[in-house]
Amino acid sequence: MSVFLDADTGVDDAMALAYLIACPEVDLVGVAATGGNVAVDRVCRNNLDLLRLCGAAHVPVSAGAERPLAGPLPAGGAHGPTGLGYAVVPPSDAVATAHDAATAWVRAAHRHPGRLVGVVTGPLTNLALALRSEPALPTLLRRLVVMGGAYGGAVEGGDSGPVSEWNISVDPEAAAAVLAGFAEATTPPLLCGLNLTTQVALTPAHFARLAATAGSPDGPLLRVLADATRYYFEAHRDAGDGYRAHPHDALAAAAAVDPGLVTARAATVDVELTGTLTRGMTVVDWSGRWGRPVNARIGLTVDPTVFLDRFVDRVGTLAGRLAHS
Ligand code: BDR
Ligand code: CA
Repeated sequence: MSVFLDADTGVDDAMALAYLIACPEVDLVGVAATGGNVAVDRVCRNNLDLLRLCGAAHVPVSAGAERPLAGPLPAGGAHGPTGLGYAVVPPSDAVATAHDAATAWVRAAHRHPGRLVGVVTGPLTNLALALRSEPALPTLLRRLVVMGGAYGGAVEGGDSGPVSEWNISVDPEAAAAVLAGFAEATTPPLLCGLNLTTQVALTPAHFARLAATAGSPDGPLLRVLADATRYYFEAHRDAGDGYRAHPHDALAAAAAVDPGLVTARAATVDVELTGTLTRGMTVVDWSGRWGRPVNARIGLTVDPTVFLDRFVDRVGTLAGRLAHS
C-alpha cells in the first residue's frame, strides 16, 4: 500500500509517522510538512529527524507553505516549542526536497495513479494548494484520510475553540477547498474528528507495554516517543483531561491502513469561514437538506482496545528492531 503523509509534527503526528513505518504492508512514499503545531521549517526538521530515527531516511520530505491560505499561523502549545515535547531527536543531516509539498502530493499521485492513500494529520494548506495545480487529485488518489473536525455537536465540542478543531481552524479556507474538491472523489474522504479520536486514550501503561513488546524500555524510538508524550500527557492533564493523551493522528493513520478499524457515515460537510464565534467549525448536513453531494465519510466509532493493541504491537516491534540494530 503506497501512502503519502502530510503532517504538522507534533507529538501525535510523530506517533502516526512511526505507526506507518511500522506497518509491514505500507510503503511510505513521501512526507509533507505543513505549518501547524509549530512553524513549517521546524515541522520539516522533525519529519526528517524522525524518519532517520525510524530507519526510513530514504523517504523524501517536502516543505509546505509557511502560512495558511488566508492569514498568519496561530500559536499552538500542546506540543511544546519544538513540537515534540521533551524529546530530543538525534539530528540528521538530511534535507527537504527541492520541490514543495504541494508538488510532492501531485507527483506522488501521478506516480501511483489510483493506488495512493493520502493521510493528512495537520492543516490542509498543502493539499488545497496541490488541488489548485491538479484538480484531478481526488480521482487520482485511492483514498484520503484526514484527522480534522469535530462532529459530536456542542456537547463534545472542539479543542482550539468551543466548536472548532485545531487542524481545521488553523486553515479553514484550505479545509473548505479540499472538501469542495473531494466532492468529485471516487471514495469520499474519511474524516477522523475529535468525536472519534477522543474515544481513544493512551496512558503510561501503554508505554510499559510498548517497552515489553520492544524487549527494551530504552531504545532510541521509544525514548523519543515517551519523552514527547510525557509533555502531551501534561498538556492533557492541564486541560482537565487527566494524565493521558488522545493519539488523534495515529488513529487516523491506522484507519487509513485498515479502514475497517472505524465505523463511518457518509454526509455533506462544510466549514464555517465567516462566523464571528464559529470560524473553523465543521458543519455536517446529515440529512441532505442542502441538496449538495456527499463529500465525506465521518468517522463515528472505534474499538479503542483494537487500535491500541495494534499500535503497541506494530510500534513496539519497530522500536525493538531499532533498539537491537
Ligand atoms: C490535532 O491538532 C493537533 O494539535 C494534533 O496533532 C492533531 O492533529 C487534534 O485536534
Ligand atoms: Ca497533527
